[in-house]
Amino acid sequence: MDKKRIEPSVATNSAKELPVMGGSFVHLKDERVSLVLATAEPTAINPNPLPRIVHWGAPLAASTDVAEIVSLLAPPTPHAAADVPLERSLLPLPVDGWRLRPALQGARADGTDWSPRFKLTGYQALGAEESTATSVWFTMRDPVSRLRIETDIAVSGGVVTIQQVLHNEGDTDYLLGLLAATLPLPARATEILDLTGRWCRERSPQRHPLLMGTWSRETRRGRTGHDASLVFAVGTPGFTFASGEVWAVHLGWSGDSVLWAERSPAGFAQIGAGELLHPGEVRLAPGESYEAPVVFAVHSTAGLDGVSAAFHDHVRARESHPTSPRPVVLNTWEAVYFDQDLDKLTALADAAAAVGVERFVLDDGWFGARRDDTAGLGDWVVSSEVWPEGLDPLIRAVQERGMDFGLWVEPEMVNPNSDLFRAHHDWMLQVEGRGTPTWRHQQVLDLARPEVSAYLLARLDALLTEYDIAYLKWDHNRDLVDAGHLGVAGVRTQTLALYALLDELRRRHPRVEIETCASGGGRVDLGILARTDRIWASDTIDAHERQYIQRWTGLLVPPELVGSHVGSATAHTTGRRLGLAFRVATSLFGHFGVEADLAVATPEVRRGIAEGIAAYKQHRALLHSGRTVRLDDVPAEALAQGVVAPDRSEALFSYAQLATSPVEVLPPLRLRGLDPKARYRLRPLTLAGGPTAQELAACPWIAAGGMEVSGEALMELGFSVPVMHPDQALLVHLSRV
Ligand code: DGJ
Repeated sequence: MDKKRIEPSVATNSAKELPVMGGSFVHLKDERVSLVLATAEPTAINPNPLPRIVHWGAPLAASTDVAEIVSLLAPPTPHAAADVPLERSLLPLPVDGWRLRPALQGARADGTDWSPRFKLTGYQALGAEESTATSVWFTMRDPVSRLRIETDIAVSGGVVTIQQVLHNEGDTDYLLGLLAATLPLPARATEILDLTGRWCRERSPQRHPLLMGTWSRETRRGRTGHDASLVFAVGTPGFTFASGEVWAVHLGWSGDSVLWAERSPAGFAQIGAGELLHPGEVRLAPGESYEAPVVFAVHSTAGLDGVSAAFHDHVRARESHPTSPRPVVLNTWEAVYFDQDLDKLTALADAAAAVGVERFVLDDGWFGARRDDTAGLGDWVVSSEVWPEGLDPLIRAVQERGMDFGLWVEPEMVNPNSDLFRAHHDWMLQVEGRGTPTWRHQQVLDLARPEVSAYLLARLDALLTEYDIAYLKWDHNRDLVDAGHLGVAGVRTQTLALYALLDELRRRHPRVEIETCASGGGRVDLGILARTDRIWASDTIDAHERQYIQRWTGLLVPPELVGSHVGSATAHTTGRRLGLAFRVATSLFGHFGVEADLAVATPEVRRGIAEGIAAYKQHRALLHSGRTVRLDDVPAEALAQGVVAPDRSEALFSYAQLATSPVEVLPPLRLRGLDPKARYRLRPLTLAGGPTAQELAACPWIAAGGMEVSGEALMELGFSVPVMHPDQALLVHLSRV
């Protein structure tokens, strides 16, 4: 057996090495999913075929006789086709007759080794049970092409993680085109749901049938992208949040990506994900390796809520997952923009502390010549013009008022109008000597140049050392265009250098939390989240837009990691005017913050925000640990969702009316996720400026101040909802009696 290079990702204390592959199969299993691999029969062309995947889906009994399943599923030989029926391998390649997208694409410079034939040369399965495993590691070698692949597959909380490494053991360079993880889809998976979007409207869903052919979502932006399909799902027709069977993948990568599904007349369908590599971007010299980004795959028999439940559990199980209560944030961006001044911000800190804010974040504009967005990026030195005594006076003011201090940075960028650019204009990511178009007046630094990363590390380290900073908001305000690194495509090296920079900073400053922001939600993925502590979901804090954006962001990211701020009455990004209660109700279902100039707010608004913050503090433990439930069964003009405590003893639901409904009386709202046998105390949670008492009182149960009722009634029959104006929300709290 080969020496193991990558550790299986899941190994419980009681995990032990299992002999199962020595038999004929590996059954990877947890309480939510089974992935079954079986040894394949030799063919004339391939005497040592790789294991094949016979099942990815609902959990099978641990006692399942896999050999029996394999016989049962052995395909017939079709007419006018290969004489030995095709079977789907762990790494589907042309050698086995695979005619969908191969999992590995590449060749040597002279065109050879384009179609390798791997043989399994080692494996190790780990698990606590006799007959099922929680992780398996395979190593596969092709003695002719002298390529070797290691694949580590693990299951945990319903999520299958697949990690692959390719080694070039030959004497010449190998040019890699793709190393993807692909999984089989059954014939009944016929409907695709993926996400798209743009700045201020991230994560917009689209649905379409999976017909014959390929539906492929590529990102070529050098960052995850506003239009990235955070989760790419294929399910049984009409699957909803509550129902249907769904197979979904996510790529843990912040550079370019490809996620796809395809079906062929040969009777096969698959879903896949991998890093999108540009021509020549990965050229493995002899002895070099390529580590593919981790692919996360979920199967759910309980619709999209089942998908997010698995992802949320997986994310929450990370060692680095924040465990302290998520502090209420005040971000200065929409409060003052670039107009920074100690007196003004001290007044803002005063007002923030008075309403219950716990973290004060100084946004863009504190450094170099950054008085607007045309200058200063790259000069990570506190501006003596704006902050003659440095940031200390502000940090002191913030801390004296009981808050911790956060700071905005955008390390990967440089304005041509900056000292850094004037000194090092060659540090840009570009095709040599050609330059790239500016975007928000900025260029991208080539982080893969050691001197560039060293400069950024030194500057950021100095800031974090000099100042008591609890939190960095790490921004990235442009796509990478024509991103060249020393003559070759540079998105991958840029992404890896960013990860290395973040990892080193976190090593040096383990207590500093980092938010990933990229013109809002342009960098949301589990690669960046492995080294950051929350995401900025969107630059729009218009609560109406946020209802949609947060709903779909929640497919992958649990609410405690989704920054969600209460903005001004008139949303800056849309001009829409919204009531305070609706803005608060929307922000409650995330990591709550405020982004408005509280120093000039009326006493009434401050009181309303203070009440909202108090409600958040009261409910954040529930909201940040519970199960997210989205209700399908509401009129098209509304969105309803909730969070139910893991033991179902408590829940908070929101019904947001987003447009007028064409019916006079809305249908009762039927909940999900409760304990049918329990009795709950149901009560409205009123927020200042929300639907008036009179409006609410139109529902007798609300007029009565709530009522006690069984979980079964709440789920089967529901409760009446008052007629509300557009952009109003009803919040209801439930606690087990
Ligand atoms: C884009 C971010 O998403 C905003 O919140 C703000 O930080 C600006 N950049 C600052 O330039």
